[in-house]
Amino acid sequence: MRFTFALSTTAAVLAAAHPHAKRAAIDECLEAAGVPVDAPDSEDWELDVNPFNQRLPYLPAAIAVPTTLEHIQAAVLCAAEVGLKVNPKSGGHSYASFGLGGEDGHLVVQLDRMNNVTLDTETQIATVQPGARLGHVATLIYEQGKRAFSHGTCPGVGVGGHSLHGGFGFSSHTHGLAVDWIVGATVVLANGTAVNASETENKDIFWALKGAGSNFGIVASFQFNTFAAPENVTTYQVRLPWSNSTAIVKGWGHIQDWLGSGGMPEKMNMRVLGDRSGTQLQGMYYGNACDMKAALKPLLKNLHANVSDVKETDWMGAFENYAYSDEIDITRPYEQVETFYSKSLVTPALPEDVLQNVADYWTKVARLNTRTWFLIIDLYGGPNSAITKVPTEAGSYAYRDPKKHLFLYELYDRTMFGDYPENGFSFLDGWVGNFTQGLGKDWGMYVNYADPRMSRTEAQDVYYRQSLPRLRDIKKQIDPTDLFYYPQAVEPAV
Ligand SMILES: Cc1cc2nc3c(=O)[nH]c(=O)nc-3n(C[C@H](O)[C@H](O)[C@H](O)COP(=O)(O)OP(=O)(O)OC[C@H]3O[C@@H](n4cnc5c(N)ncnc54)[C@H](O)[C@@H]3O)c2cc1C
Ligand SMILES: *[C@@H]1O[C@H](CO)[C@@H](O)[C@H](O)[C@H]1NC(C)=O
Ligand SMILES: *[C@@H]1O[C@H](CO)[C@@H](O)[C@H](O)[C@H]1NC(C)=O
Ligand SMILES: *[C@@H]1O[C@H](CO)[C@@H](O)[C@H](O)[C@H]1NC(C)=O
Ligand SMILES: *[C@@H]1O[C@H](CO)[C@@H](O)[C@H](O)[C@H]1NC(C)=O
Ligand SMILES: *[C@@H]1O[C@H](CO)[C@@H](O)[C@H](O)[C@H]1NC(C)=O
Ligand SMILES: *[C@@H]1O[C@H](CO)[C@@H](O)[C@H](O)[C@H]1NC(C)=O
Ligand SMILES: *[C@@H]1O[C@H](CO)[C@@H](O)[C@H](O)[C@H]1NC(C)=O
Repeated sequence: MRFTFALSTTAAVLAAAHPHAKRAAIDECLEAAGVPVDAPDSEDWELDVNPFNQRLPYLPAAIAVPTTLEHIQAAVLCAAEVGLKVNPKSGGHSYASFGLGGEDGHLVVQLDRMNNVTLDTETQIATVQPGARLGHVATLIYEQGKRAFSHGTCPGVGVGGHSLHGGFGFSSHTHGLAVDWIVGATVVLANGTAVNASETENKDIFWALKGAGSNFGIVASFQFNTFAAPENVTTYQVRLPWSNSTAIVKGWGHIQDWLGSGGMPEKMNMRVLGDRSGTQLQGMYYGNACDMKAALKPLLKNLHANVSDVKETDWMGAFENYAYSDEIDITRPYEQVETFYSKSLVTPALPEDVLQNVADYWTKVARLNTRTWFLIIDLYGGPNSAITKVPTEAGSYAYRDPKKHLFLYELYDRTMFGDYPENGFSFLDGWVGNFTQGLGKDWGMYVNYADPRMSRTEAQDVYYRQSLPRLRDIKKQIDPTDLFYYPQAVEPAV
């Protein structure tokens, strides 16, 4: 499919001269091409420009609101002709507001008007439009055929950003990441061409999309494989007596031995959640409560803790249990926001000294921080994890080694009222510093929990690690002018 549109010469000349002129030029181009837009200062504009992370608001040059593939193609060509950077925005949950461009003055292609979800009950493949939110996707796939794929817990997160950069949730130890279920995508490239990418077509682009999708084009349609939604799911919690750093070091040591040695069965999914009020394991088991308890017993014996809040439910019930939201099938308007700074890590089993430093930080620094922080330690890898069974070369997503990638962490520090304080950043920087200083280069960060305070060079390295050189080569081939730029985007190879 091709789409061409010639910008009037006057507009192009004006655009080159001044940002205000660029604004006029992009409006003119989009209008001439018949692309729907949000009128500046309209209710839709205010809704679409409002970032999930209130700490990072940005002002776009224009907001296109496509309803068709052709609209997306035309919008990309307009941005190229006017000389603006362009970024797709799906659910708008980027921690760094990268869907808004991560800086002022971009063309934002707001995709949430495109949210159809269609399950083909012969092939069991779901075709999903790129602006659907996870709760909507899960609900519709389930309703159409009792099917599912693996993804995160928050129903408001967009399928676009989430699945192209990983997508970890309570089903991931059993069924892998959201990215592992993508079997095809239609993507609009920088030159406005739409191509299909899969294992058999445009393989390099498919590889690049699966882990670093925001850098290579705008996915206009996804195809996800699905599995039969499990009928019997049990959710549970375990309160951990981690009142001092000795207890943390011991308990965490038991957890990493259990996970690393293959003690955690594939059907078990679990995370540690620590905040000011205490520390607990939260889990989901694909099976009934009796089997869950038997599978947990060896670990709980060492942790000196008991299981509580046990609920036997089904796939959608389990999603609701951890969604922390009244509504699962969320579309538009979506108005939930927070004000926060977050960092992430992926690490192997922690050596004793690192564990000690991190635990000391937890009890001596974190517990004195009166902001509403939390730490999530996902039991991510190990020999029974479905994530690490996917071959590394399947996509650019970088963390598939059962030993090197044992834990995924989210560190999150928010203010419930007012601005995030200027002197707040050192809190998570110091905690993360105490992990990484003892780990050499054996760690990474997760772009779905983007930390925009890193330089572009550092960010690309820690997000993509061994995949970066090939990503940069592909970027050079298909987006040499960096049209889909944002401050931490993959740079074209030189
Ligand atoms: C409340 C909350 C809960 C979360 N829970 C989880 C969780 O359980 N597990 C987990 O792994 N992550 C979780 N996340 C992180 C989430 O996965 C990422 O923030 C994700 O990138 C958000 O996707 P989005 O489409 O909503 O965001 P957006 O801000 O719209 O997009 C994020 C990035 O993806 C790009 N993008 C979006 N759509 C497309 C497309 N169609 N084609 C190409 N690029 C595109 C954007 O340009 C941007 O760079 C959570 C985030 C929040 C705020
Ligand atoms: C999406 O769904 C709407 C409402 O059911 C329908 O009108 C539209 O044609 C669908 N679009 C696509 C691309 O399937
Ligand atoms: C991509 O695949 C869809 C069907 O999945 C098809 O309709 C479309 O023509 C294909 N596009 C290209 C460019 O091959
Ligand atoms: C699984 O769930 C179904 C439906 O709720 C129930 O009838 C059945 O007894 C459950 N099976 C097991 C093994 O718990
Ligand atoms: C640390 O906590 C554990 C478990 O709660 C407790 O048994 C131990 O006495 C505590 N140690 C110190 C030094 O307070
Ligand atoms: C766990 O349960 C056992 C048996 O009911 C009880 O003896 C023990 O005190 C409990 N432990 C904790 C930490 O609550
Ligand atoms: C580790 O934590 C201590 C506080 O416990 C802090 O002073 C130090 O700067 C941190 N180290 C790094 C490398 O961030
Ligand atoms: C658009 O870019 C792709 C990838 O570089 C290339 O294969 C294709 O031929 C280009 N299409 C046009 C019309 O230039």
